[in-house]
Amino acid sequence: LDPGLDIMDEIGRLRREKNAVILAHYYQAPEIQDIADFVGDSLDLSRKAAATDADVIVFCGVRFMAEVAKILSPGKTVVLPDMKAGCSLEDSCPPDDFRKFVEAHPDHMVLSYINCSAAVKALTDIIVTSSNAEHIVNQLPADQKIIFAPDRHLGGYLSRKLNRDMVLWPGTCIVHEQFSEKELVKLMARHPDAPVAAHPECPAQIVRHASHVGSTSSILKFASETDAETIIVATEPHIIHQMEKASPHKTFIGAPGADGNCNCNTCPFMALNTIEKLYLCLRDLTPTIELDETVRVAAERPLRRMLEMSP
Ligand code: 13P
Ligand code: SF4
Repeated sequence: LDPGLDIMDEIGRLRREKNAVILAHYYQAPEIQDIADFVGDSLDLSRKAAATDADVIVFCGVRFMAEVAKILSPGKTVVLPDMKAGCSLEDSCPPDDFRKFVEAHPDHMVLSYINCSAAVKALTDIIVTSSNAEHIVNQLPADQKIIFAPDRHLGGYLSRKLNRDMVLWPGTCIVHEQFSEKELVKLMARHPDAPVAAHPECPAQIVRHASHVGSTSSILKFASETDAETIIVATEPHIIHQMEKASPHKTFIGAPGADGNCNCNTCPFMALNTIEKLYLCLRDLTPTIELDETVRVAAERPLRRMLEMSP
């Protein structure tokens, strides 16, 4: 790139020229969050992608999120700054294995967390996110048998909280699995008045210390509304950027990993997107998300069902 180029100005110019909207997840780098037209959690971003009248969606998040945008808005060009931005939950659930798993439980309804491939969505009855999962499960009959994939921690959390039996696919998020209960308890002892806010992708031994458990947007709401001056945040630490903007007088501490600091918990997939790659994908309109139309149509059905059943 030309060193004299003002990337921020160029992104602004190109987005107008191409009628593009820039959507970003809370786990993106602060400069990406700040230049985006909209920052949100998985559900907010799906809704924005479905409703936008832009011609181009620049999706600053991971690939499954950009795929959701394409599934819901197939006529639009959807670009992702780095096509290698995957997700360990998606990787943990290969579609062919998942198909056999579903076939082995024929009387079960299939609920999948949105963090999965389009091919896994196509095998699913209803998609959920961390912000609507409880609300959706509560609409199902009490005796409904349920498969939950691919996150066994979110599935386990829902199963315990809602007192529902679920057959869980054994996938995990490598980022939320890094938190150390031992180090968290030590940190809590040093900050006895600080509540812990945790994402349900965390293992049960972390979630059990949390005063608030929820999606990224619900954690942000909790952080701004609580009277506490210091909050321990058990999710990907780039979310702290929005917390500091909303409540500059409060202190936010990322929950620690086994080494006692929070830097190990950044998502390596989200980190592949940079402001330079954002500029390039907007300039060149590549790489684009392309989906097989049969898979797209089959994946759209459980996503639309999610949107209809969401609060
Ligand atoms: P939410 O933003 O929907 O809570 O999801 C978190 C996440 O892991 C995204 O990959
Ligand atoms: Fe996937 Fe975890 Fe990264 Fe979210 S934080 S994109 S679930 S690996």
